Amino acid sequence: MRALPLTVGLLLLALPARADSYEEHDYILNCSGCHRMDGRGSRTVPSLLDMAELRGKPGTREYWVQVPGAAQAPLTDARLAALLNWLVKRFTGQSPNPAYTDEEVRRLRRTPTRDPLAARAKIRDAKVR
Ligand code: HEC
Repeated sequence: MRALPLTVGLLLLALPARADSYEEHDYILNCSGCHRMDGRGSRTVPSLLDMAELRGKPGTREYWVQVPGAAQAPLTDARLAALLNWLVKRFTGQSPNPAYTDEEVRRLRRTPTRDPLAARAKIRDAKVR
């Protein structure tokens, strides 16, 4: 019976990994193939850890929905809104304020950004007066 505490311990250790949210599963299934599990991306996909440098800048909120990988994901508006709320918190440390709603996401994702890298550079380099 010495195996029992070990088994219970291993099960408890396994729990956080199952974690557990639809958001995390949606990230794994729809985003991590390009962005990787840790968000660091690859030679051709920029790191989500750099999202923090855009926080609070004019246009960022819209850009994060309209970037093609998000806007065109096979997810409902409500699931994409929930995923983005989770994603922004995870990679910038702060939740979007106010949180994305399904109405806002529905409106924004109709017009995905055509040139995301240029849009990003413009947001990043804009002078905030
Ligand atoms: C097929 C590869 C691919 C998939 C799948 C993908 N992305 Fe992306 N993502 C990119 C690329 C490439 C960029 C850089 C902008 C561009 O060229 O579209 C990017 C940029 C982003 C950015 C902008 C980050 C910043 O600060 O500039 C966000 C946010 C984002 N993706 C979210 C998502 C989400 C959420 C999903 C899953 C629903 C997703 N992506 C799925 C390739 C992908």
